Amino acid sequence: MMKNIIGLFLVSILVVGCMGAGGRGGNGHGRGHGNGNGGGLKMNFYGKLCRLDRLVTVESTVRQIVWSKVSADPSMAAKLLRLHYHDCFVRGCDASILLDPTQNKTTEKTAGPNRSISGYEVIDEIKTKLEAKCPGIVSCADIVALAARDAVSFQFRKEMWPVFTGRKDGTVSLASEVGGNLPSAGANFTTLLTQFGTKGLNLNDLVALSGAHTIGISRCTLVARRLYNFTGVGDADPSLDVSYAQTLRGLCPNPQNPATALEMDPKSSLTFDSDYYRALNQHKGLFVSDAALLTNRQSARVVNLLQNRGLFFTQFAKSMVRMGGVGVLTDGQGEIRKSCRVVNGQ
Ligand SMILES: *[C@@H]1O[C@H](CO)[C@@H](O)[C@H](O)[C@H]1NC(C)=O
Ligand SMILES: *[C@@H]1O[C@H](CO)[C@@H](O)[C@H](O)[C@H]1NC(C)=O
Ligand SMILES: *[C@@H]1O[C@H](CO)[C@@H](O)[C@H](O)[C@H]1NC(C)=O
Ligand SMILES: *[C@@H]1O[C@H](CO)[C@@H](O)[C@H](O)[C@H]1NC(C)=O
Repeated sequence: MMKNIIGLFLVSILVVGCMGAGGRGGNGHGRGHGNGNGGGLKMNFYGKLCRLDRLVTVESTVRQIVWSKVSADPSMAAKLLRLHYHDCFVRGCDASILLDPTQNKTTEKTAGPNRSISGYEVIDEIKTKLEAKCPGIVSCADIVALAARDAVSFQFRKEMWPVFTGRKDGTVSLASEVGGNLPSAGANFTTLLTQFGTKGLNLNDLVALSGAHTIGISRCTLVARRLYNFTGVGDADPSLDVSYAQTLRGLCPNPQNPATALEMDPKSSLTFDSDYYRALNQHKGLFVSDAALLTNRQSARVVNLLQNRGLFFTQFAKSMVRMGGVGVLTDGQGEIRKSCRVVNGQ
């Protein structure tokens, strides 16, 4: 009982925080984003357009494949979640991340932060299955959005947030657009908030979506500077817990092996939970961009609140819906790709 009362109290603070942070909107990239469900998207968009069988819908098909993949390889959950995030931050959620480079053209996939992106084969498998029964109906962008939701949801055996659908696929993917749009692991609070802001996402979204680091791994290269040469005089980042820095140096000996994997949420990197915020509050966030969330008063307050699992799940769900609406192409825009890796007619 007591717990419930505290829970409600925290919810009301967070709602107030939401409004303080500027609510919805922003007009960065134009096309319907930040409108809660992403202008033009609907629930059950494919309901009448595609059934694979009497009881088999687009949604159940995606879920069945994603759950079997995550069940066989739990690390796939973080990969599919990250794929959606990388897609939405560059040109909106239009599956531009999936386009393969051609002989003469690089694409988003070939840009720097691509290395640890994977899960493309899972999207291909889903697309092939849907295309066999409903050719030219289901967009790759919707598949990516549904797959991210289902990947996280497997652990709970229930849908953790609603996915509105009706996205079209984009026809453009440029490696050169990744750097400026995708927040980097070295970004400070101002840069992070600005980059989220241009997508119509606010401070609560920034803090909640950073909680995606509760699952998945990183590589030593992304933290080497924090551990060994933060200001160029052979020092560590003073905002990092001293003993945790020591532990990390043990895991990433210098000169570091760039391939060495590091859990972003130590000891629970396969479990979607709110431990990320607890670690962050103990100054054990892995990246500069994690630690940055403590450098602003409002953001530090939200970090504190989201240590509560129920609040984190609620805000994460809300923020994923908002992110899923960023820059979406609907109606007459874009196309439904035949293969997620190539633009139609190429
Ligand atoms: C690539 O560029 C070369 C030289 O500009 C051109 O001859 C060729 O047709 C291009 N290939 C494709 C697939 O666009
Ligand atoms: C990823 O990016 C790196 C650095 O830009 C590049 O060398 C590599 O070929 C890319 N990998 C893929 C699969 O495109
Ligand atoms: C944040 O990073 C940007 C880009 O590197 C830099 O221009 C800015 O001065 C930094 N802001 C603060 C408060 O350190
Ligand atoms: C540390 O950074 C400084 C300045 O960027 C650089 O000159 C120096 O070589 C670096 N030291 C190591 C050990 O990487």
